[in-house]
Parts: sequence; structure tokens; C-alpha cells
Amino acid sequence: MRRRTVLRAFGWGIGGAVVLGGGGFGAYYLSARRNTVGKVSFDTPLSIPALARSRRGASGARVFTLGIQPGETRFKDGKPTRTWGVNGAYLGPTIRARRGERVEFVVRNGLGEATSLHWHGMHLPAVMDGGPHQTVAPGGTWEPRWTIDQPAATLWYHPHLHGSTADHTYRGLAGLFIVDDERAEALDLPSEYGVDDLPMIVQDRSFDADQQFAQREPLAGSLGVIGDEILVNGTIGPYVDVTTRLVRLRLLNGSNARLYHFGFSDDRRFSLVATDGGLLAAPWETDRLYLSPGERAEIVVAFAPGERVELRSYPAEHGGVLGRLDGFDDRLDICQFRAAGSLSGDATVPAVLGVAPDLAGEAVAQERSFLLASNQINGRPMAMDRIDFGVREGTVEVWEVTNDNGYLHNFHVHDVQFQVLTVDGGTPEPPLRGWKDTVLLVQGRRYRLAMRFRGRTDPNMPYMYHCHLLAHEDNGMMGQFVVLGEGEQVGVPPGRHRHP
Ligand code: C2O
Ligand code: CU
Ligand code: CU
Repeated sequence: MRRRTVLRAFGWGIGGAVVLGGGGFGAYYLSARRNTVGKVSFDTPLSIPALARSRRGASGARVFTLGIQPGETRFKDGKPTRTWGVNGAYLGPTIRARRGERVEFVVRNGLGEATSLHWHGMHLPAVMDGGPHQTVAPGGTWEPRWTIDQPAATLWYHPHLHGSTADHTYRGLAGLFIVDDERAEALDLPSEYGVDDLPMIVQDRSFDADQQFAQREPLAGSLGVIGDEILVNGTIGPYVDVTTRLVRLRLLNGSNARLYHFGFSDDRRFSLVATDGGLLAAPWETDRLYLSPGERAEIVVAFAPGERVELRSYPAEHGGVLGRLDGFDDRLDICQFRAAGSLSGDATVPAVLGVAPDLAGEAVAQERSFLLASNQINGRPMAMDRIDFGVREGTVEVWEVTNDNGYLHNFHVHDVQFQVLTVDGGTPEPPLRGWKDTVLLVQGRRYRLAMRFRGRTDPNMPYMYHCHLLAHEDNGMMGQFVVLGEGEQVGVPPGRHRHP
């Protein structure tokens, strides 16, 4: 893909001959590893996104008003940075609603260009999904509504305008959407928002000399923008005052392209309690956790009185030959936890959590395979006016997905949470045994994903499936499917869409 630029910059451009591995590229390659361990000052309290306010609508629904707007954010001393946000200058409020509740949104676009807001991980009618067909014009309003019908989970929202998702998200449009239910509330897990239940939207950003966001792709990189500073909820170098023995972190990889390999500075173990779609059947103890762009994880960490420990991202596998250029060799300090001299509560994580995915024994109505390579899926780039296929409402399908080139990709499906049945024919690793809507694709491995389609059908309004590395998605690594009722056939997608 973009590694062709190596030849341009260091071959034809500089030397007039290919000098790959020679002075210029060699020096660049050696310097391309970032290490911020010990260099982050951790002098700013972690910002906690406000909980979105709602009012009770006439129908009894909870109504949220979300204003997408430009603004300025002071990430560091000196000049403020021009950013975009929802009901604020950067990122958006955390939306919270219960299973069974009816929600309505008034989404106002205060930008000078079209955008959209997609509810990532949500089961909902296609027309409410906020994908590339639900564009909100500049100055316009969009009013999606649906009934929350899925288990407790940490979901999120972000723009999805085809060709501009990377740009709009990088500028700051993103927020969490937490779904609650009785089962999760009955568990003895840390649950006081902003105190021992912390939202953590992890993003990398680069700043230019003018302290503005620089959307810089690493020279010879293959994933899109990779930043050298880490923000959590928009805070650079954040610390958290810990007051309880156990703390839950709701981690979202909100980066465009960077793969995180989370762990703590003292390699302490922590418990993974939930993945994209909600609670695992039982906690899984580990000292490292991968999250690719768009994925979420809820982890529970135990602290001892008086200690300080940092959340980091460690070097990652799966980068391929030149992975270093895309950040795979980086060591990054992310957030410091400062435990008080005495901590409340106990340190026991419940042994039983949610209900394990149960699609393995189901009759499979249809199998499909998806090959991701060269900004295409199955050899075709995304086309707004082409619906790739239709699935039958009520049925279970198995999708076999393979990353067929040397670069990092992942795979996200709208509307459903899926079960990873097997990876290369074997049982998936514990972090892939819960409900997922986005899965990291290690090159060459075959992932078999089972999913059940249910709910409202619409032969003309598609849902998306795509790589969640936003530059890949924008460049065409995406496709569209519709959910069909009895006797329905694949129709035609909405004809006229505004393209920026
Ligand atoms: Cu998070 Cu299609 O998106
Ligand atoms: Cu999505
Ligand atoms: Cu990709």
C-alpha cells in the first residue's frame, strides 16, 4: 500500500537509486521507535466526560440533545488547538441508558460541512445507525430513535461520513455510550462513574509547531495517522486519585490507527471483565491486553494504599516487517494512578459475570468469506450505491474473515455483536470469548464469526462492515449489507448522498 512512498522518498527522490536500508531510510527507521516511559509528567487530573443530560419526551422516551460544534481546546501550555466536539470543544458527553429504554436524539450539526454520528456496537434499525447514509447537513438536524435492546456494555459514538471518518474523528468527535442492565447492576463491580468506574478514551495525537493537530502519516507507514502523544479523555499526562481497592477502567481505543498493548508499569495482573458487547462469563486475569481501533474493554485493577502505578502501552506483535514505523515498537506512558493512604471496599472481583455467547450450536443459514487486502474487501472497494448482500432476519450466519496482506487490519460489523467461533480452527484466546463487534485480524489467520440478525428489516438501507483503521475504511475497505424479511430482496441504497 503506502510503503511505495519509501521508494519515492529514499529511492528516486533523494539518491536517484533505490537505497532502501541505506543511510537515509536506515536512520529514519532506527529513530522511528518512540519511548515516553518516564518522560510524561502526569500533572493533570484525568478529565471525566460529563454524563449527557436528558429530558423525558412526550412518548416517555429519554431525549438527548447533541450539538456537534467546532471549538478550541487547551491541551498544553501556549496556544489552544482547534478541535471539534459534541456539546463542548473536544469529545462528547457519555450517554447512559438502560436496556429496554426508549431513547431519542436531537443531533445538530454546527459545523460548516456534513457529518454523521454512528452508534458503534448498538443493535438498532439501519436508518438510525448514523452510517454514511444518515448524513447531517451543515446546520441540519437528525433525530434518530430506538429502544435499547442489548445487554449492558460500553459502546461509543463517532462520525461515519464516507471518506471523512478519519478526519472528523481525529478532530475530536467521539464519546462513550454506556448501556446498563439489571444483571450488570446486581454485580459487585466498581460502578461509581468518575470515581471507581472510569471512562478512558485513549487516543494518540501529533501537534504541529503551531500546536494544532497534525494529521501526519508516518513516512512509509501503512495504517494512517499515528500520533506521538497520548490523550485520555482529551488529557495529556493524566493522573487519577484512587480511593478504592478496585477500580474499573472502561478502555476505548479511540485512535484512528494505533494498536495499543495495555499493561501496567509493574506488570501487575488485572481482570478483563467485559469486551465490546458486554460482560464476559467470568473474569480473565492477565498482565497485557491488546485493543485495536474501535475496540473496548472493561478491566478491573486492584490497588494497594499509597502506591503509584502507570498504565502503559507496550511494544506489540503483528506489525509486520516495517511495523515500527506504525508504532508497533513504541513504549508509551498513558495514565498514572495514585492510591490514597487508605482505600475503601474490598478487592474481590466477582467470579461469575455475564452470559457467554451461545451461537456455536446454532443452525447456520449462510456462510460467507471476507478477504481484506489493499483497501478492499473481496477485491472490491466500498461503493455507496452497491449493497453487497442481504441477510435473512432471524438467522445465524458465519463469516470467515482473513487479513490477506502484511498490514494491520481489524473487522467491525454494524448492528450485531458476534461470537468468535474459531481462530485458524482453534478455540479463540480468552479475550475473544465474549461478545465482540470489532476484532483484530492477525495477518493470515482465519477468524470465524457467528452472528444472529434480528429486528427491523429494510431492503434498501444498509449496515456497514469494515476495517476500523479509519484511513483504510475511508479508502474503501468497507462493504454494505441489508437485513431482509420474508420474501424481501436486496433493494437499492438511498440514491442521493452528499459527498464532501
Ligand atoms: Cu465504529 Cu462503522 O464504525
Ligand atoms: Cu460501528
Ligand atoms: Cu485495515
